[in-house]
Amino acid sequence: MANSPVVLLSGAAQGLGLACAERLAGQGWRVHGVHRSSRGREGLIQRFGADQVHQADLTEEGAAQQVVQAVLAREGQLDGVVHAMGEFFSGAPSETGRDQIQSLWRSNMLSAADLLDGARAALRESGGAAVFFGTAGLDGLRGRETTAAYTAAKTALLVWMKSAALEEAPHGVRINMVSPGVIPHVGAAPETHDPERIARIPSGRGGKPEEVAAAVNWLLSPDASYVIGQNLEVAGGWLL
Ligand SMILES: NC(=O)c1ccc[n+]([C@@H]2O[C@H](COP(=O)([O-])OP(=O)(O)OC[C@H]3O[C@@H](n4cnc5c(N)ncnc54)[C@H](OP(=O)(O)O)[C@@H]3O)[C@@H](O)[C@H]2O)c1
Repeated sequence: MANSPVVLLSGAAQGLGLACAERLAGQGWRVHGVHRSSRGREGLIQRFGADQVHQADLTEEGAAQQVVQAVLAREGQLDGVVHAMGEFFSGAPSETGRDQIQSLWRSNMLSAADLLDGARAALRESGGAAVFFGTAGLDGLRGRETTAAYTAAKTALLVWMKSAALEEAPHGVRINMVSPGVIPHVGAAPETHDPERIARIPSGRGGKPEEVAAAVNWLLSPDASYVIGQNLEVAGGWLL
């Protein structure tokens, strides 16, 4: 690539998305970040500049397309996509309403499909890569006491990610997933700070956003040029 590679990140204002933005910027990527509320907006603007910060609700139809077009208008290229957002909900299946299931699906699965749809042509042109966010333990298809609807949406995303990876590989686009375990940070779901949960992690601690960002950075890098359709857990052994 002649110019600095350009990456578009969702969830960029806090947590894992922000850690990815910092890591990728440090590796020479030009970072465009998406946020939804105004929380964190000023920090993002100070860090990356107003023309690289985009406000959007990516569950709305057409929103992802608009953000991708804004990036392309500014940069003329798009080399990476990192989709680091996805609503979380804790509750037994019997306590999970229809609206909640729909909302989790839109936030975790549909927004990812929209983002890739918006970015597909540009990624094919650049021979780029995309990383989506799952959650630890998807491969076992185990039942969940309190996270059934959330995990169901992430499991759908895993199948969809592999399918998109299959379709895009011949076009030179690599698609993969990172699945974090328990990663506490300011603004994270309260469950990530639960000492009992953390005590059950084989490595004996919660993960750091920077550890997740390192995996994302690797998956986007030429070092992972032959890695396609994989779900990389960054979980300290959680739910193995
Ligand atoms: N942290 C963990 O322990 C953990 C574990 C497993 C999986 N994950 C996954 O990792 C990803 C990132 O996690 P996180 O803990 O960093 O999440 P987070 O703290 O909830 O941050 C997500 C960010 O995404 C933004 N966002 C949410 N919905 C949006 C929408 N509809 N449109 C645009 N932006 C939206 C939020 O912006 P606003 O604040 O403005 O709403 C928020 O800043 C998620 O997919 C999550 O499921 C995290």
